[in-house]
Amino acid sequence: MTKARILSGVQPTGNLHLGNYLGAISNWVKFQKEFENFFCVVDLHAITAQHNPKTLAQDTYNIAAIYLACGIDLEYSTIFIQSHISAHSELAWLLNCITPLNWLERMTQYKEKAKKQGENVSVGLLDYPVLMAADILLYDADKVPVGEDQKQHLELTRDIVIRINDQFGTSTEPIFKMPQPLILTEGARVMSLTDGTSKMSKSDPSEMSRINLLDSPDQIAQKLKRCKTDPIKGLTFDDPQRPECHNLLTLYTLLSGQTKEEVAQECSTMGWGQFKPLLSEVIIESLKPIGTRYQAIISEPDYLKGVLQQGKAQAEKVAEKTLLRVKDALGFLKYEK
Ligand code: AMP
Ligand code: TRP
Repeated sequence: MTKARILSGVQPTGNLHLGNYLGAISNWVKFQKEFENFFCVVDLHAITAQHNPKTLAQDTYNIAAIYLACGIDLEYSTIFIQSHISAHSELAWLLNCITPLNWLERMTQYKEKAKKQGENVSVGLLDYPVLMAADILLYDADKVPVGEDQKQHLELTRDIVIRINDQFGTSTEPIFKMPQPLILTEGARVMSLTDGTSKMSKSDPSEMSRINLLDSPDQIAQKLKRCKTDPIKGLTFDDPQRPECHNLLTLYTLLSGQTKEEVAQECSTMGWGQFKPLLSEVIIESLKPIGTRYQAIISEPDYLKGVLQQGKAQAEKVAEKTLLRVKDALGFLKYEK
């Protein structure tokens, strides 16, 4: 029996943080044996906002190393760089011509980022979700594991599938498979350490707002010592008046491997002075093996180079085939030798 396919990706912009890990990468790792997996570093997405050409290559390389360090296993998964496979850009163009402009103008992430970027908003920023649809559809992915913030983009991908299948496919031969989002409730939205009502984000100007996967134990302890809490003793989940408390307890639950009920019981009478060192320790211990593996991988450039060469070859085979299928369905003249 063939396994269902997974595709996901992260942008090489800034350091990966606990939100990226708990919302996305840790789930990729958890489920990888059940599926056939494609994980890309989406560098073409990274240039939709102003980027630094001097650091893009190194950032891309580092994210690929983090995938491996987090436990992505090449026996089950392919790791590749989005820009190494031109089919991503080409399919994005084809999908562009089928996607109504107003679908893109409605996207929350676009509206928020556009507000921040003012006059500098590029066509690429608006088109970002179409490129993401191309990433997913090229691999006929069944499931797409992401954090909550990507849900609307996946709905757009599904709308594109309906539209293109309707216009150019037949009921027995659809052009694209319908992908499903894979968003787990716990960890899908890790919040900032300085404000429990906004999500932990790479673009937050304050380093104190997030824990990066490669932070040192000292940095982690410092960030937790200073993170926002409340004056109430006894820690509880799900109290809308205590967003920071819910977030920190959730981090503790996910990283300690306990159930929510166990943590609720353990922490019900605790104060912050007792809880913070406990959480600090659990985070440090969870991230330690990732840091160690990362250093080992990064110090062997030939190994990673080989991983990315193999990844490109495997991914390209699948992507090229899909692209030909789509061009055929859209009626393009085939190139014949
Ligand atoms: P990005 O950092 O935007 O490239 O996001 C990479 C992946 O991490 C996506 O699947 C996001 O949904 C997920 N992600 C980013 N921030 C968070 C967060 N604060 N909580 C949970 N998941 C997140
Ligand atoms: N837009 C996603 C993010 O910022 C990254 C991404 C690009 C992605 N292409 C994808 C995620 C395809 C899943 C599938 O998080």
